[in-house]
Amino acid sequence: MDKESTYNKNLVIIIAAVAATGGLLFGFDTGVISGAIPFFQRDFQLSNSMVENITTAGLIGAVIGAMFTGRLSDIFGRKKTILGAAIIFVIGAGWSGWAPNPHSLIIARLFIGLAIGISSFSVPLYIAEISPTNLRGRLVSLFQLLITIGILVSYLSDLAFAHNSDLASWRPMFYMGIVPGLILLVGMLFLPETPRWLMSKGREDESRRILKKIEEPGEIEASLQRMKDEIEKYKERATFREVFKPWLRTALMIAVGIMFFQQFVGINTVIYYSPKIFMIVGFEGARAAIWGAVSVGVVNVAFTVLSLFMIDKLGRRKLYFIGLSGIVFSLFALGLVFAFHSSLGTEGKWLAIIFVWIYIAFFAISLGPLGWLFISEIFPMRVRGIGSSIGSLSNWLFNGVVAFTFFKIVKLFTASGSGIITHEKLYDAATHTFTMQAVNNGNPAGAFWFYAVIGVLGLVWGYFYLPETKGVPLEKIEEHWRQGGKPRDLKG
Ligand code: BGC
Repeated sequence: MDKESTYNKNLVIIIAAVAATGGLLFGFDTGVISGAIPFFQRDFQLSNSMVENITTAGLIGAVIGAMFTGRLSDIFGRKKTILGAAIIFVIGAGWSGWAPNPHSLIIARLFIGLAIGISSFSVPLYIAEISPTNLRGRLVSLFQLLITIGILVSYLSDLAFAHNSDLASWRPMFYMGIVPGLILLVGMLFLPETPRWLMSKGREDESRRILKKIEEPGEIEASLQRMKDEIEKYKERATFREVFKPWLRTALMIAVGIMFFQQFVGINTVIYYSPKIFMIVGFEGARAAIWGAVSVGVVNVAFTVLSLFMIDKLGRRKLYFIGLSGIVFSLFALGLVFAFHSSLGTEGKWLAIIFVWIYIAFFAISLGPLGWLFISEIFPMRVRGIGSSIGSLSNWLFNGVVAFTFFKIVKLFTASGSGIITHEKLYDAATHTFTMQAVNNGNPAGAFWFYAVIGVLGLVWGYFYLPETKGVPLEKIEEHWRQGGKPRDLKG
C-alpha cells in the first residue's frame, strides 16, 4: 500500500479544518477594512490619504510578519508560531474595534497585519509538513480558496453591522474578527506539533508519538527514517545568499515577477476600496456600496473554485494569458465607464459593477491562485522555504505600494473638471452638526487604464518568463534551471 495513503484520515480532516480557519482569518482581516472604511472615514473625519495610511499599516505589518516567521517557526516550532499569530489576531481585532483615534487604529492594523503575515506563511507550512504528499497541492489550493471565502465572510459581516446613520458601525465590524481568532487559537491547542520539526530538534520520541496518531503502525519507523535522512541531507542551513546564485536567478525573477503583476493589476484596490468605488459611481449610502462588495466576494469565491478544476487541465500558461487578457479588457472598459460616467446616467453604475465582476472572475481563475502556486513550485527543495518566503514578502510589499498609492494615482490621472462629486453627510466642527457636503473624489478612469497598461506589460513578461509547470516533476524544474534553460522551454 502507498505509504502516503496510510495516514489517519480523520486527523487530515481536522488539519484541513484548521487550515481553513487560518485561511479564513487571513481573508477576513484582509476584507473587513473595506466595509469599515466609509464609516471610520466619516467618524474620524479622515482624508483619503489617511485612509490609505490605515489600510497600508496592515500591509506593512504583514511584510514584517512574513519576514520573521521563517526564523520564528524554526526556533519555536510551527504550532507555537500559529498559536502566537492567533493571539495577535484576537488582540488586534479587539484593539481595532476599540481604537479611540486614527493613530491608535493605525497601530492596531499594523499589529493585526503581523498576524496576517505570520499566518500566510506558517499555516501552509504546517499543512505541508503534516499532511500526506499526495494531498499537499490540493491543501495549498484550499488555503487560497479559504482566503477568498474569508474575504466574502468579512463583507457579509460588514453588511450585518452597517447602518447608514450610525457612524460607529465600523467598530463591531472589527470586533467580529475576534471570533475566528479564538477558533484558531482553541483548535490549534488540540493539534500536534509537526513530527518533522520535532525531529529536526532531535526530539525523536515525541516525533514518534505524534506519528503514531497519524500513520499506520507498520509505517512509523520507515517514516521516521525518511525524515531523518531528509534532515541529514539538508542539514546545512540554506542561506539567503543561495537563492541569489546565478542559476536560480530565473526562478527568483518568476517569483517576484508573478507577484508584481498579481498586485499591480490593482486587485486589492477592488478588494479594499470596492464599497468606496461603488459609492463614487452612484450607489447611494454605505450599505448599498457594501452590497456591491458582497457580490464581488461571491464572484471571487465561485471562480476560485472553478480554477481548482482548470489549473491542472488547461495548464498554467494558458490560464495566465486568458486571465490576464480578461483583466486588461475589463480594466480598460471600467476606465471608459468612469470617463463617460456623467453621460451614462444610472446605467453607468450597473456597467461599473458588471465590469468589476468580469475583472474579479478573470483574476480568480488566473493570477490569484497562480501567484501562490508558482512560488511553491519553481524553487529546488533546498531553498524552497526561503524562495517562497521571498515570493510572499514581495506579494505583501507590492500590495502595500498599490494600496498606498491608489487614491494618489486617481488624483494624478484626474483631468481637471472630470472629478466625480458625491454628496456625503459630513461632520461640521464649526456648527457641531452633520450637513450634506459635496466631496470631490477625483476620477478613477486614468488609474484603471494605468493598471491596464501594466497588465499589457504582464502579457509580454509572461510570454518570456512564465514556464509551464503542469505535470512537470519538481526535480526536472531544478534540472532545467541548472542547465541554464529558458522558462519557455520547460516541458514535462
Ligand atoms: C492575493 C491577494 C488578494 C486575493 C483576492 C490573492 O491571491 O494575493 O492580494 O486579495 O487573492 O482573492
